[in-house]
Amino acid sequence: MVDKIKVENLSCYYDKKCALESLNISIVQNEILSIIGPANSGKTTFLRTLNRMNDFDKTYSRKGKVYLVGDNIFDMNMENLRKRVGMLFAMPIPLPMSIYENVVYAPKRLGLISKKSELETIVEQALKDASLWDEVKDRLDSSAMKISGGQQQRLCIARILAINPEVILFDEPCSGLDPISTAKVEESMIELKRKYTIVLVTNNVKQASRVSDRTAFFLMGKLVEIDKTDRLFVSPKEKQTEDYITGRFG
Ligand SMILES: Nc1ncnc2c1ncn2[C@@H]1O[C@H](COP(=O)(O)OP(=O)(O)O)[C@@H](O)[C@H]1O
Ligand SMILES: [Mg+2]
Repeated sequence: MVDKIKVENLSCYYDKKCALESLNISIVQNEILSIIGPANSGKTTFLRTLNRMNDFDKTYSRKGKVYLVGDNIFDMNMENLRKRVGMLFAMPIPLPMSIYENVVYAPKRLGLISKKSELETIVEQALKDASLWDEVKDRLDSSAMKISGGQQQRLCIARILAINPEVILFDEPCSGLDPISTAKVEESMIELKRKYTIVLVTNNVKQASRVSDRTAFFLMGKLVEIDKTDRLFVSPKEKQTEDYITGRFG
């Protein structure tokens, strides 16, 4: 098992308020690690720290280290980090342009490719990996705003895949989706872990139990417990974990 991300003693603050406290966690290559926990437990803060999205927030500060295969991400050039670590949000936000243009937007902007034939290969592969290709292959030129919410969310996944990252961060990616669209996104995540390392923040414990290899339970800025998903759900070590997964609080 190779550590893709290694977090050492990470603490995060907004002004003086601690949002994440002395976190130590490793994320293994080609796993889906779910992070569950009630609102305000620091899940989003953790994801936004992993691709340094919070660096622009003036109230935010942090201590500790995060390594991406040995490289300290806080010393890394931001554009390089964003190429290696992609992030998907709760609400799908496609760009107001065609499906095709959405997928090629980032690789073009980052200057990753120039030839049209290369772009076409990237679009097809990204849409296939996002489990969307069959549904849109005959209408790549139609507007991304006209497809369903579930399709838009998979399109947003394809946009991330097009830059070929190593790690993908998902922040409650299905919270706005119906059960059928949710199942499709989950299917796509399971496919994706063959090539990528995935961190999935979810407010849906059933989703964590369905898709992830390991699950971490966060509570009030602390990592309470992390284990193989089946073990964590069947025999949690901590009472707080048990209370949360059985719905006794949250
Ligand atoms: N931009 C922000 N400014 C100030 N406080 C924040 C900000 N974002 C989050 N927080 C606070 O940090 C804590 C953790 O929040 P968050 O990481 O969003 O938790 P979760 O995603 O688990 O709901 C909460 O107490 C929240 O109010
Ligand atoms: Mg959140």
